[in-house]
Amino acid sequence: MRAEVFIMNHEDMLNLNETTRRAFLKSTGAMAAGLALAAQPKARGAVEQLAINGGPKAVTAPESATAAKWPLYGPEEEAAILELVRNPGYDPNRKLEEEWQEYMGMPYARAYCNGTSALTCMFFALNLPPGSEIMVPSYTFFATITPMRFFGLVPVFVDIHPRTLNFDLEDAKKRLTPNTKAVLPVHWIGLPADMDLISEWAEEKGLIVLEDAAHAHGARLKGKLMGTWGRMSIFSYQMSKPLPAIEGGMGMYYEKEDFERASSLGHYEMPNIPEDSPYYKYKGSGFGLKFRMHPMAAALARCQMKDLEARNAAGVRQTRRLNDALTQLPGLYEQSSGRKDVERLHYAWNMLFIDEAEAGMTRDKAVEALKAEGVRADALHYTLQHTLPLYAEEQWWHHKPVIPDLPGSVKANATCIALPYFTSEVPELVDQYIKAFEKIWAHRKELSA
Ligand SMILES: Cc1ncc(COP(=O)(O)O)c(C=O)c1O
Repeated sequence: MRAEVFIMNHEDMLNLNETTRRAFLKSTGAMAAGLALAAQPKARGAVEQLAINGGPKAVTAPESATAAKWPLYGPEEEAAILELVRNPGYDPNRKLEEEWQEYMGMPYARAYCNGTSALTCMFFALNLPPGSEIMVPSYTFFATITPMRFFGLVPVFVDIHPRTLNFDLEDAKKRLTPNTKAVLPVHWIGLPADMDLISEWAEEKGLIVLEDAAHAHGARLKGKLMGTWGRMSIFSYQMSKPLPAIEGGMGMYYEKEDFERASSLGHYEMPNIPEDSPYYKYKGSGFGLKFRMHPMAAALARCQMKDLEARNAAGVRQTRRLNDALTQLPGLYEQSSGRKDVERLHYAWNMLFIDEAEAGMTRDKAVEALKAEGVRADALHYTLQHTLPLYAEEQWWHHKPVIPDLPGSVKANATCIALPYFTSEVPELVDQYIKAFEKIWAHRKELSA
């Protein structure tokens, strides 16, 4: 199954097996046809009636419902699981830690049962006094923030930029308090945050840099992998993620002390912790939790690692083909920092943004019309953590989380049009999505009424 997905068209093509070669040839033929069709979409879009008004749907490709299927496992994963069933043991954990550590080029890696537990151990490893504050976006999954409270740490919410969905350094500068001790940017759906600028500022202010790289396996800024910019970082291998192991996580560490302390919270057997470590004496109990990764997850992650970079690159190529056309339309933008030194990847959604004034129609009207055309568009509202009761109630925290206005986060939710991220090569579908958007934009006066 995986052989037919996304490794086509890559320079690694020379190494592909026969099945993949056939898929590649088939797919380049379809791609050429798609490109030819896409060459004159304006004229075609203008003549057809909108589906919302009874016209034909633009999206009819049979792959429409399955093009975002994830994870994509095949015979290699099946064989790895079967092998483990026949010979149960924890060996895959050790191997995955070694391989991921080598890939990242960081001194220490620890596998966890998920990204949430990796974050929990990262906060424990910080060993900061209660009341220490950590700057973090509200536009993130709860686990980037909530485990702080178990160690008396307090979130200071920082806005995101509404077009990057990432940590807004200018906003962070306004949020600095005497208690701020660390920053924790997230690389949202694979777009690297400005870690160079953030790190420079953090160093000037004496802040620790951490990274939530749960969405950014293999993404880079200035050629440097995300997850290697901070003193510590985490990855999630949950099944929706770019490196899916159904459930799983990884912590990365530059410092021995961080690695050993983080490990000792949830790894009571202290694997790879030397006897002269101050944490070694806690072997047998650790600090009371059990966060070891399931070895079946480690086995899946090891298989998925092999094609990680090729998959990421193919996903970017296809999304570029779609977005290069869509962002020609007035008032339609994509999630981007505009930086040329970024090598992003895509995960979960292809996030677009509409400027309603420029587009001449509302986001809701555009989404309604796109849906009628068969586009899986969504006016996605991502839950902003700071709006949840947990952060409003002082009793759960050393002191109340700092919750300023976050207009960038609100704007992102008000303007986004989320498309699915296509995880296999679907040139016909991409062309039909382009056609649907162009049709709607050609009729936008009608939709503004
Ligand atoms: C940004 C971010 N951080 C952390 C996590 C937690 O990872 P896990 O689900 O593996 O616990 C997630 C999961 O969705 C996430 O999106």
